[in-house]
Amino acid sequence: MAKDARADKAPEEVSREGAILNIFQGAEFKAYGGHMRFVCWPGLGAREVGTHCVILQPGEAFAPHVHAISCDVVLVFRGQGQFFLGDRWYDVQEGDLLYAPPGVMHGTRNPATNSEPMICVGTGVPPQLELYEKGGYLQNGRFTYTPSDKR
Ligand SMILES: [Fe+2]
Repeated sequence: MAKDARADKAPEEVSREGAILNIFQGAEFKAYGGHMRFVCWPGLGAREVGTHCVILQPGEAFAPHVHAISCDVVLVFRGQGQFFLGDRWYDVQEGDLLYAPPGVMHGTRNPATNSEPMICVGTGVPPQLELYEKGGYLQNGRFTYTPSDKR
C-alpha cells in the first residue's frame, strides 16, 4: 500500500508513487540570492524534473545565469518584479511566465522600490544539476538530501 502522498517519503517511494508537496517547503538554496527551496527535484526522488520556489524580498535578486542542458520555466506566483532574459530586464507581474532554453541568460529580481515579496516557481527540464551541486546536495553523482533533512 502506498504511503500518504503528503507524508515524508524516501526518494525511491517518491520516484515510484509520487507525492504532494508544498512550494514553501524543501531544501534551501541561497547561493544565487533570495531564498529558494528545491521542492520537487531528483534529491527528493522526482524523475527528470526540478521544481523550485524562490522568495525575493524588495531589493533581492536571483542572479542571471544559464543552464547548460536544461530549459527553465519560471512563473510569477505572487507579487511583481523583473525577469532577465537574453540581454535585458523586463517588468513582470503575477501570472507572467519566463521560458529560457539552454544557454540563454535569465534571472529574477524584486526592485527595492517594491513593498511586497515576489514569489516565483520555476521548473527545469531536465533538472538543473548544477544548482544541486552548488547547494551541496549532489556530491560525486549522489544526492545527499533526505526529507528529514529539511533546512
Ligand atoms: Fe534558471
